[in-house]
Amino acid sequence: MSNQFPFIRMGLPEWFRPVVGLVWGKMGDDATGHDFSHAVRVMELAVEIAEQLGADRDIAMTAGLLHDYYRKEEKQTGQIHYGPEAIANLRREFSPFVIPNLGAERFERVLEAIAKHEQFAFSHEGYYFENFGLDVQILQDADRLEAIGAVGIARTFMFGGAHGLPMVEEDVRFDSMFNPRERPKGSVYQHFYEKLLRIAEIMNTEPGRKMCAERHQFLLLFLQEFEKEMKIKNLKMLEAHRMTQPMTKNDT
Ligand SMILES: [Fe+2]
Repeated sequence: MSNQFPFIRMGLPEWFRPVVGLVWGKMGDDATGHDFSHAVRVMELAVEIAEQLGADRDIAMTAGLLHDYYRKEEKQTGQIHYGPEAIANLRREFSPFVIPNLGAERFERVLEAIAKHEQFAFSHEGYYFENFGLDVQILQDADRLEAIGAVGIARTFMFGGAHGLPMVEEDVRFDSMFNPRERPKGSVYQHFYEKLLRIAEIMNTEPGRKMCAERHQFLLLFLQEFEKEMKIKNLKMLEAHRMTQPMTKNDT
């Protein structure tokens, strides 16, 4: 099964091609780290996780590809890309392609996964887990894998630049906690500590945790070198070291 779209390695079912075409048209020129290739990688990671778990592969594929579809408009419209308006728009725009193939009930599961995939919060007490269904957990894990490893680092700097964040500040708030519902703040470097290093703790699924381990190690390696070159004295590597092994939910 060949396809004419860039970055896609997996075979695509025929019915899915118009869906991919719309995503390519919308996200092809993004420069914030949420471009078409991100949507494709989340789709492929979600499918990989779903296959390992014996979960619904087509729901994972569709949710993965569409999860950031309205992100680009977020700034102009003020409507968050997983909020009720975005979900209604996704339902309207993609129903003609998706429902004949997945059915209405499975398309609703896709939309539910997208609506909930950013619903998490770190706090000083730890990470708030919600009892999400497997479709949501798979999408969350796939999207989180994209935030770490070499690609995650590259995307983090793209995102920081697009939002006017400095690369690093002299005074870094190591105690700040990432909240997806707040505007980006601090520096790109700070984002490693407020979110990226914590991702290993919050993976939902066993396949996700396994795929996370190598990417987490690469984050640590990058930070070690970055802090050395930047001569950042307040080295936090020891603190980060406790996170080198992804933990299960019960450990957190
Ligand atoms: Fe994403």
